[in-house]
Amino acid sequence: MGSTAGMGSTAGSLPRRVLITRQLPEGSLEIFTSKSYELIMRDDDEPWSHSELVDAARNADAIVSLLTDKIDEEVLQAGAEGRLKVVANAAVGYDNIDLKSAMRFHIAVCNTPGVLDETTADLAFLLILAASRLAYEAASDLRSGQWAGWGINQYLGRDVHGALLGLVGYGRIARAVADRARGFGCEVIHHARHDTGLPGFISDLASLLGRSDIVSLHVPLTDDTYHLIGRDEIALMKQGSVLVNTSRGQVVDEQALAEALLQGRIFGVGLDVYENEPSVNPLLLKSPRAVLLPHIGSATRATRTTMARMACQAVCDVLEGRTPDNLVRSEN
Ligand code: GLV
Repeated sequence: MGSTAGMGSTAGSLPRRVLITRQLPEGSLEIFTSKSYELIMRDDDEPWSHSELVDAARNADAIVSLLTDKIDEEVLQAGAEGRLKVVANAAVGYDNIDLKSAMRFHIAVCNTPGVLDETTADLAFLLILAASRLAYEAASDLRSGQWAGWGINQYLGRDVHGALLGLVGYGRIARAVADRARGFGCEVIHHARHDTGLPGFISDLASLLGRSDIVSLHVPLTDDTYHLIGRDEIALMKQGSVLVNTSRGQVVDEQALAEALLQGRIFGVGLDVYENEPSVNPLLLKSPRAVLLPHIGSATRATRTTMARMACQAVCDVLEGRTPDNLVRSEN
């Protein structure tokens, strides 16, 4: 169970209590130190169980959560029965939070848009390059002593320069990937729910999948995007193409993708996210053409610190009566 670390209080008023679910990057909590806030947090980095979260929510004015915390109706209801006003997720995605229940209980939800776009786009591009050039397969052979010397027919990948890159979703991260791709001489097309009015917009997902040499996914996880790339869509992808996912694992049918990869329909995949994290489909784990990273899209010290600070700032804004820029609105 969590301990309460006192951070001072204002005479006569109830101190504001913020539940911090996990250890945040160093320096993230400074905003609270000058205020009369109490922090409920653990000394270690053990995740809170669901029942612990429910109990802690009853006594908190705010929660700073991470994408691994399931902030569901039960947690929110317990919070609403107490004094919970805001849940600030230190992530751009907020599919771990039941937004409808939060709205019903008048609990604000905040996320961290804008501050991780470039860092995540860097990682998406790393996966595009690594999957296209068989970097994992080649590096593994070298490390395990399998490499017997240079060969003209070894590790023949796909060129990234000059490739047609299809972006599914065209928010800030996708656009940052597009900037990088143009620097590599790629042609870039994109598909989004609404016409972006921008060059390269393709209204039909099937047509984008059929044309692209590389497909990179940049949509949030919602009821509409669950298995957006399912068995049928994978079958539409160009023979020998590459798929990269840095969004959410459930956007792709992982089993169908793994089978397509093993059958050689798909040349390679670069994944940073999985359907059932931290589990990874065993077929993917045994495929040398799958570059698999452990959900590190925004993982640089600078970006993760900025994300955590942004979430903490949003807590102060809501509790002190200001509307944060990063408030999630129902239409998002
Ligand atoms: C990471 O996946 C995020 O949503 O910030």
